[in-house]
Amino acid sequence: MNAITKIETANPFLSGNYAPVTEEHTAPLIEVSGTIPTDLNGHFLRIGPNPVFVPDEETYHIFDGDGMIHAVQFEEGRATYRNRFVDTEGLRLERAKGTWIWKGMAGMADLVKGVPPPAEGMMKNTANTAMVYHNNTLFALMEAAPPHKMTLPDLGTVGEETFGGKLTHPFTAHPKVDAVTGEMMTFGYSPFPPFLTYSVVSPSGELVHTTPVTMPKGVMMHDCAITENFTVFLDMPITFDFQRAMSGGLMLDWEPENGSRLGVIPRFGKDEDVKWFDVDISMVFHVSNAWEEGDEVVVQASRSLKSDISRATEMAAKHELMSDQLGQLYEWRLNMKTGKATERHLDTQHHCDFPRINDDLAGRKSRYTYAARFDLDHDALFNAELKYDNETGAILVHELGAGRWGGEGVFVKRDGAKAEDDGYVILFVWDENAQRSECLIIDARNFESPPVATIRIPYRVPFGFHAGWAPAA
Ligand SMILES: [Fe+2]
Repeated sequence: MNAITKIETANPFLSGNYAPVTEEHTAPLIEVSGTIPTDLNGHFLRIGPNPVFVPDEETYHIFDGDGMIHAVQFEEGRATYRNRFVDTEGLRLERAKGTWIWKGMAGMADLVKGVPPPAEGMMKNTANTAMVYHNNTLFALMEAAPPHKMTLPDLGTVGEETFGGKLTHPFTAHPKVDAVTGEMMTFGYSPFPPFLTYSVVSPSGELVHTTPVTMPKGVMMHDCAITENFTVFLDMPITFDFQRAMSGGLMLDWEPENGSRLGVIPRFGKDEDVKWFDVDISMVFHVSNAWEEGDEVVVQASRSLKSDISRATEMAAKHELMSDQLGQLYEWRLNMKTGKATERHLDTQHHCDFPRINDDLAGRKSRYTYAARFDLDHDALFNAELKYDNETGAILVHELGAGRWGGEGVFVKRDGAKAEDDGYVILFVWDENAQRSECLIIDARNFESPPVATIRIPYRVPFGFHAGWAPAA
């Protein structure tokens, strides 16, 4: 069951451990090296693209696949694995038709050529990117559409959540939940004005505030940050440009001339309240955390020098993914009084992404950041987990071993935790040598030691996007 089915395609995102799986399983996990902690109770979740119908294997983009969640439920030292598709309307329509309807990223070029979108709508809500747990509810997210409400532990799909029709914009895959107030901050971007819209959802799940935010141009804005009083937007230069597309370029492309800016809005602020800070040209996909210190808003994130995301398939096929496209941990300090921004590298040694913190501290000063380290010699697969210490500057490395590839590791506090890093970092690993998937539980306070548990997953877990955690009911 574990061996990779050979798919006759040169597309790296349909091959090897990126190849999609077709079946859904539920299985108790009995092959464990080490011990599953009894103070770890809840659901480790990892979502990713798992295409059912591929319009064109050559142009398939990793963003296009149907969302599938792989979960490990922990209960008093026992573990159960489940994987389920997010049962989206788009996938249901394609299954009913027996073939693809949407062309995904490649479809944007069609629109430019004047080919109309399918009658079913412009875009499939793939729900493949990330998850958020808010108001005791799990949501599966993709940034161009509303969230999908899911059920636990069975990973059932309830359907799209529009917050009683109040949601008027796409919903980022990376909303931020303030663990202190219970509020959830979110936004959506668009190639058409308003290019950015910002909203706040109350602790009980009511959408209570929405404002458009003026931007010079539509950009791909993948993440945001929050502090106790503010939300931070990332205006980075992956721009939408119809004119560029009409003259043979890409609709969505790297345009450094557009500059890079961070925008700070009070949590319940309006368009005119946003303060923009020019920063060095760069791209940020994922923020680790932000907080306030005196007059400054501090933002930490994985930052790359550029991003040719639209060409990801081509670059991966030619092994051209260079280090300037990959993030390094970085910090900006935005002085709200002077309007000046300062910035610095937090790490020039490693390239990393998927930064995570103890989510109880989202928007508050945090000491520790965890991230997945890229292996530059192996097409940017992840070969280690990192633990950064803001206080000492130390960087701890949990090596995964030769031919063993990780991904986003989520920090989970243990039951009764007494310190910020009193818990576990959990992730899936693909062991290329043994051709098997594993779930690793690393003790965050003994980070470089062997995992406290290595759990064999009896089915293959393909590489995916984001991990998450939902507490036990
Ligand atoms: Fe993301």
